[in-house]
Amino acid sequence: MGNITFVEHDGTEHVVNIEVGKSLMQIAMDSGIPGIDADCGGACACGTCHVIVDRQWVGVAGSASAGELQMIDLNPEKSETSRLSCQIKVSDVMNGMVVRLPKFQM
Ligand code: FES
Repeated sequence: MGNITFVEHDGTEHVVNIEVGKSLMQIAMDSGIPGIDADCGGACACGTCHVIVDRQWVGVAGSASAGELQMIDLNPEKSETSRLSCQIKVSDVMNGMVVRLPKFQM
């Protein structure tokens, strides 16, 4: 058991429990986190589950696939540590991880 913190653009924090094996997007949706739209339902095809992983957690969150990078590249709000949360499979090692939400999902 552990938790992950989502930080909205205005600084509001939401702490969610880790559910091993779910995607970060699924946990966000189940927890009612505002700012994750997930229009494609996790198929890596919409880019509306964009999160920015805090730099110290990038190694734990893993690397984006080529397809994910293509989707991220279309987003004007992308940053070096951008990920699509539907492509992050949550595990116990993510206890304490912090991800930030962009102002808008594109
Ligand atoms: S939910 Fe569509 S890309 Fe993640």
